[in-house]
Amino acid sequence: MEYMGNKEYWDSKFAVRGDNPLQPEKSLLENISCLKNGSILDIACGDGRNTLFLLENGFQVTGVDFSSKALERLKIFADRKNYSVNTKLIDLSIPNSLNDIGIFDNVLVNHYRLSRKQLGSMENHITDNGILFVCGFGQHHKIDSKIRKEDLIQPADFEQLKRSFELIKNIENADDRGFFVTYIFRKK
Ligand SMILES: C[S@@+](CC[C@H](N)C(=O)[O-])C[C@H]1O[C@@H](n2cnc3c(N)ncnc32)[C@H](O)[C@@H]1O
Repeated sequence: MEYMGNKEYWDSKFAVRGDNPLQPEKSLLENISCLKNGSILDIACGDGRNTLFLLENGFQVTGVDFSSKALERLKIFADRKNYSVNTKLIDLSIPNSLNDIGIFDNVLVNHYRLSRKQLGSMENHITDNGILFVCGFGQHHKIDSKIRKEDLIQPADFEQLKRSFELIKNIENADDRGFFVTYIFRKK
């Protein structure tokens, strides 16, 4: 289990990354206009390629991740640009670890599969008309030693959101890197 849940794997991966952040997620770049102005929680933010893009676009961003190395790098990148970012070291595999995180105008989950229970609880953490933006490897992505079936986003993950969210966009994309899905929900 490396893609999700292995802190040592991620700390060592971030420790050898270059001196600059990666480019933001294409789907986020293309759909940023769907977001509600204001605050955003970036769940499993890594070293912040998307957090930085959102800061650049005027959002107040809180990034959470369990890799201290990732959050350290994010702070360095943000300081370079004089951006203020709030980070929290949280292990998402701990049930209820997001209970006290607060309420945001948007939540981004990019390349991390939240549990169905955690997804369901997002209604408590998003303001009315706020956006839940989920993007990552979808159900048809090829499984290998790093990415297991359990790591793939499944359409059924979102079943319990129907009561309080409407799906405003659902994008599927296949290329040589894999099968990607984006789900954009607006809170009713
Ligand atoms: C594929 S990276 C995605 C990073 C970022 N969202 C992006 O799109 O660049 C997965 C991230 O999930 C984090 N992660 C994995 N398991 C986690 C857990 N149990 N709790 C918190 N973060 C976790 C890793 O540290 C890593 O930053």
